[in-house]
Amino acid sequence: MAATAQAQPNIALIKYWGKRDTRRNLPATGSLSITLDALWTRTRVEFDDSLRHDELHLNGAPDPQTLARASACLDLLRRRAGTTARARIDTRNHFPTAAGLASSASGFAALVLAADAALGLGLDRRTLSMLARRGSGSAARSLFGGFVSMAAGQREDGEDAFAEPLLDAAEWPLAVVVAVTSNTRKSVGSGTGMERSRLTSPFYPAWVSGATADLAAAHAAVRARDFAALAEVSEHNCLKMHAVMQASQPPLLYWSGATVDCLQRIRTLRERAGVDVFFTVDAGAQVKAVCAPGAATQVAAALAEIPGVDHVLTSGLGAGARLIDHGEPL
Ligand code: DP6
Repeated sequence: MAATAQAQPNIALIKYWGKRDTRRNLPATGSLSITLDALWTRTRVEFDDSLRHDELHLNGAPDPQTLARASACLDLLRRRAGTTARARIDTRNHFPTAAGLASSASGFAALVLAADAALGLGLDRRTLSMLARRGSGSAARSLFGGFVSMAAGQREDGEDAFAEPLLDAAEWPLAVVVAVTSNTRKSVGSGTGMERSRLTSPFYPAWVSGATADLAAAHAAVRARDFAALAEVSEHNCLKMHAVMQASQPPLLYWSGATVDCLQRIRTLRERAGVDVFFTVDAGAQVKAVCAPGAATQVAAALAEIPGVDHVLTSGLGAGARLIDHGEPL
């Protein structure tokens, strides 16, 4: 009745920003992401009939907010297993402090995989990705490694809104340099922010209708390993999402001054120095520079010297969520 899983965060190149159904957490658009290898979450789940409530420790401390979301997600697995047993959840994020990277993607991917094993369900990855989606939309993608595609689907029951692998990490081994800006303002979380955009941003309808073309272009670029084409569509999609955010009411302005300076620097590196690099930014001030592996050192050095950048960290692309031995530390 116990199992431990590890999952890595992913970064969307074609973004998910908006839901078509909040109850089943169904995305309004498809998305495309890369899974990282240098950061990870490990989660141990143990079902125990003697427990009266689920319990959750995040990095050693109880976390009621995460517990509520995790319990709701576990209920879906319990229902499939025909059990009401409560669980002890111990989860640890191996992210450098203040990396500013969302841990919900790796967290829910590791949670559903560990719970599936602990309950002996043996569900396939597609089903697990749909269960992870219920916890956090982006988590569906962390079940898989390398380049991953997430479908919006059309069905009301959400059974066609799952993630699928496109290319393994080794098939196109890009690198990601994360520039962590020293901006520590508490920002609006993704779920709240995307609902605000859907309800108030005048650009939201255009954002949703443009997603199909962006996804098609990104899929073609990934299939052809065409860096320039992937750079163009990824930056375009990222800036469109931030335009939607900024035009919401109240506005969602996630950038700091250093964020903009990083975007400019990355464009200059590519356009003037011919470096294979492009940017993407999520619901925060951190800038993720996606680059050819050989360019990572140069990109990291260029971003580290920008005032307001606290530090940089570099990652390769990694594998999907996996079970780990009980003996291994969390
Ligand atoms: C900007 O997956 O965190 O990172 O489904 O409400 O938990 P919920 O949202 P979440 O949103 C991620 C938003 C994003 C873009 C992306 O990862 O696709």
